[in-house]
Amino acid sequence: MRVLETDRLTLRWLEPGDAPFILELLNQPSFLHFIGDRGVGTIEEARKYIRQGPGRSYAEQGFGLYMVELKDDLKPIGMCGLLRRETLEDVDLGFAFLPQFWGQGYAYESTKAVLAHGKADFDLKRIVAVTASDNQAAIRLLEKLGLRFERTIRLADDQPEVKLFA
Ligand SMILES: CC(C)(COP(=O)(O)OP(=O)(O)OC[C@H]1O[C@@H](n2cnc3c(N)ncnc32)[C@H](O)[C@@H]1OP(=O)(O)O)[C@@H](O)C(=O)NCCC(=O)NCCS
Repeated sequence: MRVLETDRLTLRWLEPGDAPFILELLNQPSFLHFIGDRGVGTIEEARKYIRQGPGRSYAEQGFGLYMVELKDDLKPIGMCGLLRRETLEDVDLGFAFLPQFWGQGYAYESTKAVLAHGKADFDLKRIVAVTASDNQAAIRLLEKLGLRFERTIRLADDQPEVKLFA
């Protein structure tokens, strides 16, 4: 399902057929370093991730992580959307793009649209974001979006500290 459109991008629900792209994105060194290892090493595991992650979220919350595509040629470039985690009180913003598409304003364009979508379509009064303390690009992006650093938290006892922006 198509969810959002910006000047250059389309955001839509992830589907089982997006598994090859998800396999590529989740195994980028930047994704593994800054977000974590989702244990997706095969197309089948990528399909399962789509079903149990974003797919379940669309069904239960109405929102989730969306596929971001270039409008011109429908080329997939990343994921961006909203997550409700058991360990966080507020809904948070998630985003990751393939390195060849960095530095062109795509993350800003999609995150801005997703924040507006969360407020307008789901009446979310407060949307947060969590990021690794050394993820300078993500921190700058969040500040550019108008979010501010609030505090350091742990999403689970065995997880490293992350920065919470709101
Ligand atoms: C973080 C990430 C999404 C940025 O994507 P991007 O498309 O390059 O970002 P944009 O081009 O939209 O840039 C938006 C702003 O982000 C900041 N930014 C982006 N790359 C940056 C970098 N390398 N260093 C510092 N700031 C950076 C800047 O403030 C930039 O605004 P500006 O160009 O006006 O200065 C991308 O690097 C990524 O996918 N990283 C791996 C996954 C990840 O870390 N996700 C975040 C998890 S919390």
